[in-house]
Amino acid sequence: SLPGNAPGITPIIRKKLMGYVGFANLPNQVHRKSVRKGFQFTTMVVGESGLGKSTLVNTLFNTTLYPPKEPLAPDAERSQTVAIQSISADIEENGVRLRLTVVDTPGFGDFVNNDDSWKPIVENIEARFDSYLEQENRVNRQKIVDNRVHACLYFIQPTGHALKPLDIEFMRRLHTKVNLIPVIAKADTLTDDEVAEFKARILADIAYHNIHIFQAPTYEMEDAETMDEAEEIASKIPFAVVGSDQVVVTPDGREVRGRSYPWGVIEVDNEEHCDFVKLRQMLVRTYMEELREYTNDVLYENWRTEKLLSMGVAQDSSVFKEVNPALRMQEERVLHEAKLAKMEAEMKMVFQQKVQEKEAKLKQSEEELYARHREMKESLEKQRLDLEEKKRKIENGRPLTPEKGTQQKTRKGFLRP
Ligand code: GTP
Repeated sequence: SLPGNAPGITPIIRKKLMGYVGFANLPNQVHRKSVRKGFQFTTMVVGESGLGKSTLVNTLFNTTLYPPKEPLAPDAERSQTVAIQSISADIEENGVRLRLTVVDTPGFGDFVNNDDSWKPIVENIEARFDSYLEQENRVNRQKIVDNRVHACLYFIQPTGHALKPLDIEFMRRLHTKVNLIPVIAKADTLTDDEVAEFKARILADIAYHNIHIFQAPTYEMEDAETMDEAEEIASKIPFAVVGSDQVVVTPDGREVRGRSYPWGVIEVDNEEHCDFVKLRQMLVRTYMEELREYTNDVLYENWRTEKLLSMGVAQDSSVFKEVNPALRMQEERVLHEAKLAKMEAEMKMVFQQKVQEKEAKLKQSEEELYARHREMKESLEKQRLDLEEKKRKIENGRPLTPEKGTQQKTRKGFLRP
């Protein structure tokens, strides 16, 4: 290993390429793949009735996601609880598909007693986390449907005073479970100065109650331009918005999305008039992925850890062991014992192997000795037999088998004199 590298860790050597290899195309591969798969985004809108939630959602995504509502008749029965409704739509822009889901919470803050208005909303957000966790734990998790809420637009009534106890209670209960984006609804009912003062007061309240609202990330900014953009977006929070799905004509003859008043036209898409453009930039154009990532990596992860721990599933990260020394010691002891047992088994195995080898060798030399012994015995026996035969020949005084030629000759001489 290189100096300065711990053993077992692959050293990283920085190299300059000699030519084009092709991995500069990686971002394009990711781009193509994600465009093909499409995107999913779920946003929740919370706020009292009539604050312009439906209108703003329609304005944000430039589509009539919410059909125009009929005003409620005076004698109509109102629901007694906060209902949760969600609407999904597939929208497409320049070939990029987005499945947008808007979760509406009609009834929030509409009752005489609104103490528990936040409860069904928290439950709904947690149920969505639950469903995701359950899908993650399945044997087959190829088709995970992500219904988690990625952002929550909280509509603040344009009173110009301060946050109401209900606003504070809601945000306190929700800020660890969802990306909160506070907006001042119907900002056209306040003057510029009133908006500025109201924003300062809201931010002070939020800070005082230690509420965490979604912040445009300022880390790893590629360039000064992105940095400026992030700062500009951050400076507008809470966004003072005006919604309208109507197109109106300005005094100078332009057709714009806006609201027409006897004294002029308020333009939704004009940054001089309201913060709608900045809100859209934060929610859609610049930070949609950031919102999704923060939901997954931080909000869901924290909730999941808490949930699993409360279910008695032991955490295996080093962080948990550090805060639990008894558990760490126990684990170390178990590991140590396992190591000893393994060493012992290995030694036994080596010993047995050696014994077997020795035994095999001994057996082999024994067999060799036997074989040699047998050979020698056989050759001795042969020698003995030979000698015995010779002895018999000598004792008889003549060869055991007379030579054929001699006999015939004699016989012939004898027959033919
Ligand atoms: P619920 O569905 O009852 O919860 O109401 P909502 O919050 O969805 O409000 P909705 O969008 O239906 O708007 C209620 C009324 O407010 C409508 O008459 C809108 O035209 C009006 N409105 C919506 N946005 C604005 C705005 O930015 N400024 C002003 N002045 N009026 C608005």
